[in-house]
Amino acid sequence: MNILEIEHLDVHFPIHIGTVRAVEDVSLSLQHGEVMGLVGESGCGKSTLGFSILKLLRSPGHIAGGAIHYHGRDIASMKQRELLNLRGKKISMIFQDPLTSLNPLFRVEDHFVETIQTHEKGISRKKARARAEEMLVNLGISPERLSEYPHQMSGGMRQRIMIGISLILNPDLLIADEPTTSLDVIVEAQFLDLLNELRRKYNLTILLISHNLGIVAQMADRVTVMYGGRIAESGPAETVFTNPAHPYTQGLLASIPNIQLDQPEIQTMPGAPPDLVNPPPGCVLHPRCPQVMEKCKRERPVFTENNGRRVSCWLYT
Ligand SMILES: Nc1ncnc2c1ncn2[C@@H]1O[C@H](COP(=O)(O)OP(=O)(O)OP(=O)(O)O)[C@@H](O)[C@H]1O
Ligand SMILES: [Mg+2]
Repeated sequence: MNILEIEHLDVHFPIHIGTVRAVEDVSLSLQHGEVMGLVGESGCGKSTLGFSILKLLRSPGHIAGGAIHYHGRDIASMKQRELLNLRGKKISMIFQDPLTSLNPLFRVEDHFVETIQTHEKGISRKKARARAEEMLVNLGISPERLSEYPHQMSGGMRQRIMIGISLILNPDLLIADEPTTSLDVIVEAQFLDLLNELRRKYNLTILLISHNLGIVAQMADRVTVMYGGRIAESGPAETVFTNPAHPYTQGLLASIPNIQLDQPEIQTMPGAPPDLVNPPPGCVLHPRCPQVMEKCKRERPVFTENNGRRVSCWLYT
């Protein structure tokens, strides 16, 4: 069953010099219980896609086309009350930096209690605190630390607290946007183990946004690779990582020394991601693509699908 369906989504930011086409014609679905990795270079539209799922795009950003369905319900047509219920309670999101997401003036306990009381009117502080204590045990943190302030905790512990807060209302979908970027590798590994454990315990579906391909390879069941606001390739993580089809995926993987590929050495891609106000015609990758053909400069590639893998590249049509 698909918990989330995104169909032909376009997200635009109209600015003084034109329109930033941050997300262009993106379609993807999340099956219940899976981890979908979303990867791509900085500025390719990953966070914008994450925010649009919660209808939390910052002005002037807006959904300019397509649709997002959560359990079959169209998010765009949801009223404010329904959206508030959706955010946090059904779908929650964690971000890169836990220090800016936690209020320094609030104790850890207050963060939990406020979250619970906002969504579950009438619940006593005592009951809410008891739930928070239980969650801290799940996180491997002593419940006494509920009375501490965020700055009294280490970065890794704060990130664990963030995930605890995001799961306290029992959502079924978690959007994790670069959740480990501020952590060192050891703490990162511990955090990923915890995430895996919580995923099973809470029966979560996760959209894991990261530019770190190692993390995605380790965690994700399927992976979507974005470039210039569009999907370059998506499919089962193992297939995409061991046998990347799109030249962009090949370039991304070739730039990571610790991922073993069963392929001969691949040329990396020079240059920078496209200007999303004036993206190149045809395939957005064509100015950087080592396998560029004449057609790529003129016509936007269509998707081809094979064994659950979709690729948007003229090499495969
Ligand atoms: N508020 C905004 N106004 C104008 N343009 C924006 C705004 N927010 C994002 N963009 C543009 O949208 C595009 C996609 O940005 P986004 O933050 O989604 O990328 P990302 O893939 O998450 O990058 P990163 O890996 O750096 O987090 C970028 O070109 C960015 O400049
Ligand atoms: Mg981002």
